[in-house]
Amino acid sequence: MRVSAILSQLLALTTAPLCVRAATDNLVQEIISALKQAVDCASCQGILIPAAKALADFGDTAFIDTFTTVCQVLGLEDDDVCAGQFALSGPSVANALRVMDPLGATATKFCFALFGLCNQPSVTPFNVSFPTPTPPTPAVFQSTGGTPFQVVHFSDVHIDRNYTVGSNANCTKPICCRDFADSPANTTDPAGPFGNHQCDAPPDLGSSMIQAIDSLAADARFAILTGDVVAHDTWLVNEGEATIDLQDWTADMAAGLKTTVYPALGNHDTAPVNSFPRNVTSTENVQWVFDLSSDGWERWIGNSAADQVRHDSGSYAAQVPGTNLTVISLNTNFWYIDNLMLYDSNEQIADPNNILAFMVQSLQAVESAGGRAWIIGHIPPGLSDVFHDQSNYYDQVLQRYKNTIAGQFFGHTHVDQFQVAYSDYANRNAQTADGFAWIMPSLTPTSGHPSFRVYDVDPDTYEIMDAHTFIANMSDPNFQTNPTWELFYSARETYGSLLATPPSATESLNATFWHQVTDVFELDTNAFQAYFARRTRDFDVGSCDASCQTTTICDLRAMRSQNNCDVVTPGFNFKREEHQELVVRHECESVTGSIFRRMARMRQ
Ligand SMILES: *[C@@H]1O[C@H](CO)[C@@H](O)[C@H](O)[C@H]1NC(C)=O
Ligand SMILES: *[C@@H]1O[C@H](CO)[C@@H](O)[C@H](O)[C@H]1NC(C)=O
Ligand SMILES: *[C@@H]1O[C@H](CO)[C@@H](O)[C@H](O)[C@H]1NC(C)=O
Ligand SMILES: *[C@@H]1O[C@H](CO)[C@@H](O)[C@H](O)[C@H]1NC(C)=O
Ligand SMILES: *[C@@H]1O[C@H](CO)[C@@H](O)[C@H](O)[C@H]1NC(C)=O
Ligand SMILES: *[C@@H]1O[C@H](CO)[C@@H](O)[C@H](O)[C@H]1NC(C)=O
Ligand SMILES: *[C@@H]1O[C@H](CO)[C@@H](O)[C@H](O)[C@H]1NC(C)=O
Ligand SMILES: *[C@@H]1O[C@H](CO)[C@@H](O)[C@H](O)[C@H]1NC(C)=O
Repeated sequence: MRVSAILSQLLALTTAPLCVRAATDNLVQEIISALKQAVDCASCQGILIPAAKALADFGDTAFIDTFTTVCQVLGLEDDDVCAGQFALSGPSVANALRVMDPLGATATKFCFALFGLCNQPSVTPFNVSFPTPTPPTPAVFQSTGGTPFQVVHFSDVHIDRNYTVGSNANCTKPICCRDFADSPANTTDPAGPFGNHQCDAPPDLGSSMIQAIDSLAADARFAILTGDVVAHDTWLVNEGEATIDLQDWTADMAAGLKTTVYPALGNHDTAPVNSFPRNVTSTENVQWVFDLSSDGWERWIGNSAADQVRHDSGSYAAQVPGTNLTVISLNTNFWYIDNLMLYDSNEQIADPNNILAFMVQSLQAVESAGGRAWIIGHIPPGLSDVFHDQSNYYDQVLQRYKNTIAGQFFGHTHVDQFQVAYSDYANRNAQTADGFAWIMPSLTPTSGHPSFRVYDVDPDTYEIMDAHTFIANMSDPNFQTNPTWELFYSARETYGSLLATPPSATESLNATFWHQVTDVFELDTNAFQAYFARRTRDFDVGSCDASCQTTTICDLRAMRSQNNCDVVTPGFNFKREEHQELVVRHECESVTGSIFRRMARMRQ
């Protein structure tokens, strides 16, 4: 559970005034009182931020201790989770608060991201600059009907190196299946060898996927990994654990996979979680992440790209040998609202660590050479998790280089989704659709069966002709002895058949195609519901009524986050970064009691 999720739950619970113990600690009382009074954006900025600032001025220790106590008193998480989470993330929050102008745009963003009390401020005007204008006659990339080659995509592997077979899979922490100090001696729900939906992936599940890729995509030209290798024990992950998780998975891929891997950095691939400080506002840095990634990835991406990883904050561009395709891997975590390092200035910094400038420079080089590019990254630009500013600027780059970009690939949400971009967001239709991003479901089984995907890629255009999503069905009785990886669906078969005019064999699954699929979703509820179920690979699907359907389709048509239809809900974190279960507690046990009854875990 992220610190922002804990804070937004805090807010929900403090609206139940009788549930709070008469705390002896004044600081605790003051924060609880401020949380109670924060009911909207104005009171968040007018009351809560000043109270939190005052607390931060007492120093990091007072700040951490106070929030830890509040979290523990309200029983929001196990005591060790509260303590670990605030010990790790508290200093960056306190640091941001100390410099924060309570009425400024940064404070508005903070109240949006951590408490759900503000909407994001309107986009800060900024024009991305381009070395050359759009060519008057853009290059034409045409399929000659050559046999497609295969590329594998996997994401959000979240391998838990401390996964313990036989340990309790039914715990009250964000992830289970570990021998925690407070684990019961005997469990009625023991962790199996290959994983559990309440837990991150055991190393054996990772190996199983690697073997499946080697056999089911034996001829794959290369693979892409769109981030998040480190496990979800966010209250424990420090540089040491993150280093082990990253190194071990790189070693597993290098030893097991027959093909080359082009990786990208996820928000978990650092420590503390989500921490990627800006080099213009912070004296801290995570150069160790960039160095580690550079060293680990060089075998696949080559030495000049590895050099970029080191010096360009984790991003790189690498031409795939034997092709005219360049993979541009972006560190999208500098645009992520839960990166608590991004609130340490009242100035709105357009391009933290020059990631967008790197994207422009790399795309310009590809355009000038007449090639094509794929963008890979962790966080899809249209999610509410992405600042409207950087998402808007990303869209400017996409619009400029859309003729060069043949594909965009992300992860992060753990579910099977996509996003369409438009030349005119006021008129989103098949004529204005001009960009498309694949969002890869996860290996970690916390929100569905483990999965990977194999694309058929046109050898002339590098556009995607089909996508085959494979899963290992955890409900299969043999899963814990021998996971079987099977084709779940083909995108062309499944969605192409919904269209009045399915794409011909030489037409790719491009933005026009996917916009047309969303048109079908609007009219055909069965087709929409089947898509909705596919998001979690038919696992624990839940219901999506007409208004959920409208929002979901709106979000598919929003690669620019200012255009999605997600609504901010106070005290409840609507973002659900990883579709982790939220621990929800309802009424109080008693008026004097401070402990909320633990209710069942709720899954999104
Ligand atoms: C961006 O470019 C437009 C068109 O050239 C111009 O009108 C506008 O002032 C520019 N905005 C900024 C923030 O530079
Ligand atoms: C995880 O495993 C490492 C190495 O075995 C051990 O040092 C560490 O204490 C374990 N962490 C937890 C939380 O169990
Ligand atoms: C655990 O279960 C075993 C077998 O049922 C029993 O012998 C043992 O006493 C139990 N241990 C604890 C600590 O409850
Ligand atoms: C999980 O734990 C809860 C609460 O202790 C219990 O009610 C439930 O039966 C357990 N589920 C399993 C599968 O053991
Ligand atoms: C910050 O990092 C970027 C690379 O991501 C680099 O281009 C830029 O020069 C750095 N800026 C400073 C002030 O160090
Ligand atoms: C790359 O593009 C050049 C120029 O268009 C072309 O001659 C060459 O055959 C292409 N290479 C590949 C591998 O497609
Ligand atoms: C998608 O492909 C179709 C068929 O080739 C084409 O008409 C359409 O213009 C393409 N759309 C985009 C956004 O490139
Ligand atoms: C997974 O296996 C279960 C049990 O065999 C079955 O009911 C379910 O339909 C399967 N799911 C998928 C997506 O194949």
